[in-house]
Amino acid sequence: MSDTTQDTTKPAPKKLFIKTYGCQMNVYDSERMAEALGPSGYVEVGSPEEADMILLNTCHIREKAAEKVYSELGRFRGLKDEKPDLKIGVAGCVAQAEGEEIMRRQPLVDLVVGPQSYHRLPELEAKARGGARALDTDFPPEDKFEHLKARPKARRAPAAFLTVQEGCDKFCAFCVVPYTRGAEVSRPAERILAEARDLVERGVREITLLGQNVNAYHGAGADGGGDWSLARLIWALNDVDGLERIRFTTSHPNDMGDDLIAAHGECEKLMPYLHLPVQAGSDRILKRMNRSHTAESYIRLVERIRAARPDILLSGDFIVGFPEETEEDFQATLDLIEEVKYGSAFSFKYSPRPGTPAAERPTVDPAEADDRLQRLQALITRQQREVQDSMVGGEVSVMFEKPGRREGQMVGKSDYLHAVHVAEADVAVGDIRRVRIVESGANSLAGALV
Ligand code: 5AD
Ligand code: SF4
Repeated sequence: MSDTTQDTTKPAPKKLFIKTYGCQMNVYDSERMAEALGPSGYVEVGSPEEADMILLNTCHIREKAAEKVYSELGRFRGLKDEKPDLKIGVAGCVAQAEGEEIMRRQPLVDLVVGPQSYHRLPELEAKARGGARALDTDFPPEDKFEHLKARPKARRAPAAFLTVQEGCDKFCAFCVVPYTRGAEVSRPAERILAEARDLVERGVREITLLGQNVNAYHGAGADGGGDWSLARLIWALNDVDGLERIRFTTSHPNDMGDDLIAAHGECEKLMPYLHLPVQAGSDRILKRMNRSHTAESYIRLVERIRAARPDILLSGDFIVGFPEETEEDFQATLDLIEEVKYGSAFSFKYSPRPGTPAAERPTVDPAEADDRLQRLQALITRQQREVQDSMVGGEVSVMFEKPGRREGQMVGKSDYLHAVHVAEADVAVGDIRRVRIVESGANSLAGALV
């Protein structure tokens, strides 16, 4: 049936719903997936009920990640019964890890695509539309980013992510990343700079460089003089007019080069915030985790970073209840936290990931692990509050990102990555202004424009 009042050469757009789990890299990847499917006629929508295609961009880091994906998929059965043309896809790290198993276990799934194959989405979608099931979890040698060009001229929020490297060669004994994201690969600096300039043209003023092991970055330099380090890349971004703030995450202590430490003291656009996971404070456990650093070497590193940038705010990741962790080992983690003083942290109860070395080892009593997690989180919360409370009366610079919940309120991020809200602020989204902190709350600061 054709609609005679409209241009029949242009089919109605198909609707795409992407649900994103996990880290910022998945947020970045979901944006690129939406853009990759644009030429196939897709526009993004906000709910699965409206969609012609649902993509789950999954994360494998958390406990029972795969089981959660299967139960989420099961919930789409009703939608598929109502709308037989609905296509369902699984992307991200669970797709990479489980691959054909997903196809076997869940007949609802039409498409499975691993993180290195997103540029092939249009072909996979076409195959799925044709009625076949499509699977791509290869690690193709070509650079997927080259095929995932951002849509021209679409305006962007003032803060954006930009992936500069993927994968990891560290093989921490608990972690699936080296298996799901593969070996460490850095993008050439020239492409990153071009993407940064493009983001700035579209209104972006703050860029967070992303990588599973971002400070191991060693991409082809933009000056023909060999590979660049992350610090060299940051210095080049520092020269991009219109870009005001640079951040990067996540870093490994062993890749914190002298030039990167120095950049924290000297590079004016590099923000005074560093996410530097240590995972544990007991050398015995760190060794069992295959972390290749000690608590002592980490603390010395923090001292050097603070010597370069005294006001830097540190955050970390911690795992409690790693196999064989004793109360004494756990105390060493608390001691390390006391010594370092974090501005914020993520903490997790260890849970085994199939295929990783630690998964074969005897686990700690779950009630004991719960108790340790609570004690660790209480300590971190206390430190977080101390840092926040000490900021009251002082000034920070805030980039405003969106209106707040209350009328007239605007919310943004401080240079230290605190959420800051200002009542009755006469500012626009993207403005960077000095703000005096007047109050410290549980998860945010209240301020007034200076
Ligand atoms: N169990 C618990 N936490 C984990 N993480 C990674 N793998 C596991 C696991 N098997 C945590 C680490 C890492 C963060 C992203 O997730 O702390 O830094
Ligand atoms: Fe996983 Fe990070 Fe260790 Fe790499 S460095 S294996 S990403 S925890």
